[in-house]
Amino acid sequence: MNDKFEPRAQTANYEDVWLVAGVRTPFADYMSVLSGVSATDLGIHVARALFERTGVPASDVDSVVAGNVAQSSFDAFYLPRHIGLYSGVPLGVPALLVHRLCGTGFETILTAADQIALGKAKLVLCVGTESMSRNPVAAYSHRSGFKMGQVEFKDFLWEATLDTASNTRMGETAENLARHYGITRPEVDRFAEQSFERAALGWSSGFLAGEVAGVTSQTWNLEGYQARGIKLPRSVARFERDEHVKTSPFDVLQGLRPAFGKDGVQTGGNSSAIVDGAAGVLVASGSYVRAHGLRPLARVVAGASVGVPPEIMGIGPVPAIRAVLAAARVQQRDVARFEINEAFGAQYLAVEKELELERSRVNVHGGAIAIGHPLAASGVRLTTTVARELEQTQGEFAISSACAGGGQGIAVLLRRAA
Ligand SMILES: CC(C)(COP(=O)(O)OP(=O)(O)OC[C@H]1O[C@@H](n2cnc3c(N)ncnc32)[C@H](O)[C@@H]1OP(=O)(O)O)[C@@H](O)C(=O)NCCC(=O)NCCS
Repeated sequence: MNDKFEPRAQTANYEDVWLVAGVRTPFADYMSVLSGVSATDLGIHVARALFERTGVPASDVDSVVAGNVAQSSFDAFYLPRHIGLYSGVPLGVPALLVHRLCGTGFETILTAADQIALGKAKLVLCVGTESMSRNPVAAYSHRSGFKMGQVEFKDFLWEATLDTASNTRMGETAENLARHYGITRPEVDRFAEQSFERAALGWSSGFLAGEVAGVTSQTWNLEGYQARGIKLPRSVARFERDEHVKTSPFDVLQGLRPAFGKDGVQTGGNSSAIVDGAAGVLVASGSYVRAHGLRPLARVVAGASVGVPPEIMGIGPVPAIRAVLAAARVQQRDVARFEINEAFGAQYLAVEKELELERSRVNVHGGAIAIGHPLAASGVRLTTTVARELEQTQGEFAISSACAGGGQGIAVLLRRAA
């Protein structure tokens, strides 16, 4: 591991930036019910649901910031623009795509906060959206044909989980952390079992349903332009619950084969599930919130992003959380709830050990092991969830955070609205 590493975080504090509301699709297993739906259409669905639920008119939006990692349709270049147009945002409003790998969803919110702080916007539509199922089978060298036997077509999803700088697959970076922190397979499986249990409780208690907008087949018309929409499989009238959340007892998890080398601790059961889904939030200036009498979920206090060595990319939340706390002069003990992405069980446990986190304050409604990790959507989901948890617990501060492939960490600090 690279020991010549010094975190150099980029941070910002925000005075009067608000997270108005958030909503997401239920997350569907890889190659399941949402596999026919592009990331753009998943994003349009959550944006429309946001406007419908909040009553905030789409016509008030003056900036669209969308996040997407893997292109999942031939019209992917237009993803942020189409999310804006087909959710009712005026034609004259610009739209931006951001990409910080697994940190992308957070980045949509921090970019919105930057735009608001700079006076470029008052109300920003942020959407993180990902179709893992529709990752292409691609070739980069065949525009002029190919020689016999030299075909490059490859599974983009599989290839993209290899960081070619360090030559480590994402799962291997978690194995590196497991070795470094002495994290064992039973510890990882116990943690995974808990993630599934907490997510199941999150559904049975109604908490998770509160942030989900079920998906149905539908058509969106836009005057003067092509109609588009969502077509679910004929047998599915409505998709409304995270598909990967299922009973996963320790003994069953223990029986699964290691995914990254025979002595490894990570399996298909204790790694983030590969799922399709989208999440959206509205971020607004204080003046917009007050002028419209809105009751926001939380204030966006600060954000931080930072680089870490690629071969231990999963440790990213540690310097990111430290940096965001330092920037805002908030103590870790004053943070009532954390949502930290569970890219891999051992990766989360390394972060927990390093920060000495109390498990009772972290991922209390389950994490990506159970719910899934649709890359660009995760940061928006985690920030929405933790803001709702803050409201539920009446705590003061909350943090959402994730590591990102390539070696980065990102964190958002929120404060309860009232
Ligand atoms: C770890 C990983 C490689 C596993 O992929 P996989 O081998 O295709 O995993 P599967 O989902 O098929 O699971 C393997 C087996 O475990 C079983 N399994 C998985 N989760 C389970 C659970 N919760 N309970 C019981 N069984 C489970 C599957 O049914 C499957 O069984 P089978 O072999 O009999 O069909 C993949 O999930 C992965 O790469 N995840 C992380 C994605 C990623 O890198 N994201 C970015 C983070 S930076």
